[in-house]
Amino acid sequence: MPRAVRFDQYGGLDVLQVVEVERPIAGPGKVLVRVKAAGINPGEASIRKGLFAERWPATFPSGQGSDLAGIVEELGPGVTTIAVGDEVIGFTNDRSSQAELVVVGAGDLVPRPANVSWAQAGALFVAGTTAYAAVRSVALDTDDTVVVSGAAGGVGSIAVQLAKNADARVIGLAGAANQTWLSDHGVIPITYGDGVEDRIRAAGGGKIDAFIDTFGGGYVELALKLGVAKSRINTIIDFAAAAKYGVKTEGSHEAANAEVLAQLAGLLAAGRLEIPIAKVYPLDEVREAYRELEQRHTRGKIVLEP
Ligand SMILES: NC(=O)c1ccc[n+]([C@@H]2O[C@H](COP(=O)([O-])OP(=O)(O)OC[C@H]3O[C@@H](n4cnc5c(N)ncnc54)[C@H](OP(=O)(O)O)[C@@H]3O)[C@@H](O)[C@H]2O)c1
Repeated sequence: MPRAVRFDQYGGLDVLQVVEVERPIAGPGKVLVRVKAAGINPGEASIRKGLFAERWPATFPSGQGSDLAGIVEELGPGVTTIAVGDEVIGFTNDRSSQAELVVVGAGDLVPRPANVSWAQAGALFVAGTTAYAAVRSVALDTDDTVVVSGAAGGVGSIAVQLAKNADARVIGLAGAANQTWLSDHGVIPITYGDGVEDRIRAAGGGKIDAFIDTFGGGYVELALKLGVAKSRINTIIDFAAAAKYGVKTEGSHEAANAEVLAQLAGLLAAGRLEIPIAKVYPLDEVREAYRELEQRHTRGKIVLEP
């Protein structure tokens, strides 16, 4: 029997288990994918802890995960656009990708370019589409300077590269360990913490045009203090500040589709985007994977491999 991540109640890491489950069946329009890599995301930890129980409740037993890359194993009735053996990148909204086998809508898959690693492919969907939406929302021009908080995290590490691809000047806020990674990617690195506002002003030469917040905890207010227009501030996490000040909150919801995924895969294949892979864990070590993620200092993405 195939194995999958499950939890039976809200709680800490200890509720996560890897168990044998019934082999999933691909219904009409769906395909069965043998998962090679599945990225993990902070939102999944929040769901598992019950923090979104009102807004996005879990039904138990719950599976977990949206991101996936793998090989098509079976076709459901009516699927003609894809073949058994195809290597694919995709997503599911059924909280089920962290498993050996997953059922996915045929339209929610794009081809895996041969030169894109399984780990990068499997980590692409949530962080990639979120970064895409956040960068698009602030409408960057070539002479713009944009600040990205959490610049080396899952979403931030992609957002800074997409902003560079738009020929903007990019200032990235990150811890000491990530300064070199940012400068190697053409980003002006700045450490967060005391004095960050002065450091941004100095690096920006008095001109900050846009701000993308992927961390929360006061960066919306900082962006306003820096004189950034509300229409060019986007936070993917501080919804209270967004409601208070009227800034944007565009994230995965605004770009979570196969067209955007295919564009991002194309950038990876062309060498215009790189997903830093912090660590690959076997599926069995799902608790350890989230333990590391929940420290909130991941560079890029953590991936599970069944
Ligand atoms: N709205 C949406 O659609 C959407 C979608 C995806 C994610 N999210 C949310 O967005 C957030 C980021 O997700 P993610 O996957 O990028 O998380 P992540 O990979 O865990 O990124 C965490 C990053 O935060 C940085 N960080 C830690 N302390 C910081 C501080 N005081 N100031 C600035 N940066 C700090 C870390 O940088 P250092 O390691 O350099 O310290 C690390 O790179 C999460 O809260 C997630 O739930 C929202």
